[in-house]
Amino acid sequence: MPLLSATLARVKPSPTVAMSSLAADLRAQGRDIIPLSAGEPDFDTPQNVKDAAKAAIDAGHTKYTQVDGLPELKRAICDKFRRDNGLDFAPGQISVGTGGKQMLYNALMATLDPGDEVIIPAPYWVSYPDMVLLGGGTPVTVPCRIEDGFKLTPEALEASITPRTKWLMFNSPSNPTGAAYTRAEVEALCAVFRRHPHVWILSDDIYEHLVFGDFEFTTPAQVAPDLYDRTLTVNGVSKAYAMTGWRIGFAAGPAELIGGMRKIQSQSTSNPCSISQHAAIEALTGPQDFLAENRALFERRRDLVVSLLNEAPGLSCPVPDGAFYVYPSIAGCLGKTSKGGATIDTDEAFATALLEETGVALVFGAAFGVSPNIRISYAASDDALRDACERIASFCAGLR
Ligand SMILES: Cc1ncc(COP(=O)(O)O)c(C=O)c1O
Repeated sequence: MPLLSATLARVKPSPTVAMSSLAADLRAQGRDIIPLSAGEPDFDTPQNVKDAAKAAIDAGHTKYTQVDGLPELKRAICDKFRRDNGLDFAPGQISVGTGGKQMLYNALMATLDPGDEVIIPAPYWVSYPDMVLLGGGTPVTVPCRIEDGFKLTPEALEASITPRTKWLMFNSPSNPTGAAYTRAEVEALCAVFRRHPHVWILSDDIYEHLVFGDFEFTTPAQVAPDLYDRTLTVNGVSKAYAMTGWRIGFAAGPAELIGGMRKIQSQSTSNPCSISQHAAIEALTGPQDFLAENRALFERRRDLVVSLLNEAPGLSCPVPDGAFYVYPSIAGCLGKTSKGGATIDTDEAFATALLEETGVALVFGAAFGVSPNIRISYAASDDALRDACERIASFCAGLR
């Protein structure tokens, strides 16, 4: 009998890990590496949040808490949904876990039976398909075109729904493209859901606060109150408050589903870290100026990166409305050879040669289900971004 399960055998190792370990090896050899592959803000957690965590330790908040979150944190989350999204939830409709990631995982584990399908618009966050597989379900990826802003169209959604469809994984703004759906676009998708009452919406709003210009963030439960009862809205403090390491995410939805998620969590990790929960209360209820400052910072960096990348021969970079990623096409580079002698026949070959020859680490599009593209995280200093974009441009200019 094999040691590892058949379920595990269906799960792919993360292609991003290969790039990260190659970057780490090169750095260990003393090479000058610019990492643009991380999915986290490059600055520190706000001081008031860190102070709240220290106070929580001193006050002895170091024991188990309720499995899916402290009542006072759930109240703060209810207030957040009311304030930011116009959504009313009771504390019994809230779950708190170890990152938004655990919320997504628990929801899928609590609801999927073998053969259940989950629609995943591509490009997608790398974890979605494998989480579905771990839950015993079948990921159904739906490619979204660069011409459509990498967004799922109502027609493509309609065409991908079957009697076995359980969920749509909806992520706006998106990792890896930064694409964000307008209110009209969310409404158009919701109109499709109305025709298919067996399908549930899993809205991953983790990049909610990172939208630029006058773009208005909206989430399905907010624009379609009639779909509130079959929507799970997932969010967290990781990206908005630069708290990726604290591991607090939350979800809001029907009490039955929240109860199912609690059951999974009670038999796996139990409560998320008590100290982090106190920090999250401060993040959600304390001063919110940090959010606007970050938004302005990331918008400036987006503009810098998009304009520099569009000067690179062979690259074409759309302007995303949110998150801290761009997802340029490298179609104009395919079929060429790099100065170092690498054949650029895929986006993976592009990313590998770029790393080896220039030291810029990024993630290739195949990891996110749409090629030929690269994902660049601009959660890095202006100097690092300028330097990286210059190296990318000169790598592209050197292709023959
Ligand atoms: C789209 C998306 N969803 C969820 C997460 C998980 O965030 P966390 O578990 O840190 O809250 C991430 C993190 O990279 C993400 O990019």
